[in-house]
Amino acid sequence: MLNTFQQQFHAMLPSLSPEEASRQEFAKSLKHFVQQGLLPGLTPVYEGRAAPEFAKKNARAPQSRHDIRRAMVTDPYFRHYAATNRISQEMLWDSVIDSVEREHDLLQSHAEEMSARNTGKLVIPDEFEVPRYVSALDIHCMPGGYAGDESDRDDVSLGVLYDRGVYLYSMGYTGPHNDDMGRSVCNYLKRNMPEFKPKRILDMGCTVGHSTLPYKELFPEAEVWGIDVGGPMVRYAHARAGALGFNVNFAQMNAEHTDFEDGSFDLVVSHILLHETSGKAMPKIFEECFRLLRPGGLMIHADLPPFDLMDPFTQFILDNETYYNNEPFWGAMRDLDQIALARKAGFDPDTIRFDTAPMAVMEYAEAGYSAESATSVAEREFTAGEFAPGGGWEVLIAQKGEAA
Ligand SMILES: C[S@@+](CC[C@H](N)C(=O)[O-])C[C@H]1O[C@@H](n2cnc3c(N)ncnc32)[C@H](O)[C@@H]1O
Repeated sequence: MLNTFQQQFHAMLPSLSPEEASRQEFAKSLKHFVQQGLLPGLTPVYEGRAAPEFAKKNARAPQSRHDIRRAMVTDPYFRHYAATNRISQEMLWDSVIDSVEREHDLLQSHAEEMSARNTGKLVIPDEFEVPRYVSALDIHCMPGGYAGDESDRDDVSLGVLYDRGVYLYSMGYTGPHNDDMGRSVCNYLKRNMPEFKPKRILDMGCTVGHSTLPYKELFPEAEVWGIDVGGPMVRYAHARAGALGFNVNFAQMNAEHTDFEDGSFDLVVSHILLHETSGKAMPKIFEECFRLLRPGGLMIHADLPPFDLMDPFTQFILDNETYYNNEPFWGAMRDLDQIALARKAGFDPDTIRFDTAPMAVMEYAEAGYSAESATSVAEREFTAGEFAPGGGWEVLIAQKGEAA
């Protein structure tokens, strides 16, 4: 049985009735069943019947992930897998909404109170244009999407929904605070660049600040900012940081063109932001990172590994998110040459590289860490998720040259 971290409760999460808790547990377990029970069946189905049928029809074996999709998409086993996966995703958000609605007024008042505890700034402009690649659809099927609409600007409900829903989505694999990506990149910095002590840090596409807070923990003296195009997300992020005892700044800003001054940050990071943008936005974001960094400053983007690092069948499996989980840029982003983009933005070519930041939760487990509410570490079995083949997060690192 899956046995991962339980989510750490804090003042910005709704309490759960026993019925809500069991619905959420079911949604999480169904997702686990899809991954562990149904997914492994795709390989024998492909090799045993879909690939031979494709070869018979086309007089050649399937080669690319697109060929494999054409071969698989009519197969009843694949259709069963894809439909169940989609249903589990929709069920997951649905299982959280009742508690968010039931505690709406209480959570709004908690947000006021918790935000007041955070001495960091909260910047929400009166007018803001959310890019179409975020506003046009409910990304990964979350009702309301990341930005909601005008009426959601002061409301934190979407942030609450995301905080709890993403814990279920990751099935607990990103730790009790859903912060494994930020924590893993921090561990990477600590291990590989112990001399690096950034004074100003920017986390782009921070959503509710899951990955932002570990930077304040590692560099308590630093001024840390999280920005996102989703107003309800940064409002929630500011309150959540207050609830967890952090003083961190949050702002509704577009990473393509922020309001910060040239050369004003030592470290600019993002965690699974890039695949939520677009082919036009990504180069602009790289250029903005370059503009914002002081000479010698570092850019680190933790995201999905490029497709050229994996075989076409694995590409096909991962690309299912593009087709069935409202993630239009998911596959296309993995085809882009990010090294070339970073070079074009001006980063020192000798410093641009992909690397792996080992997942912090796996390191905890090895060290015998046990979250209060989780059962014994010995019973946990950590396997790398699809985001992190080989047990780590893929990070793109680039440095702005000292002379730039
Ligand atoms: C998958 S979430 C990021 C998760 C978060 N970084 C974490 O580690 O928990 C992607 C976020 O990027 C935001 N986003 C997309 N395009 C953006 C842009 N151009 N500028 C700032 N935020 C953006 C979305 O609103 C969304 O909140």
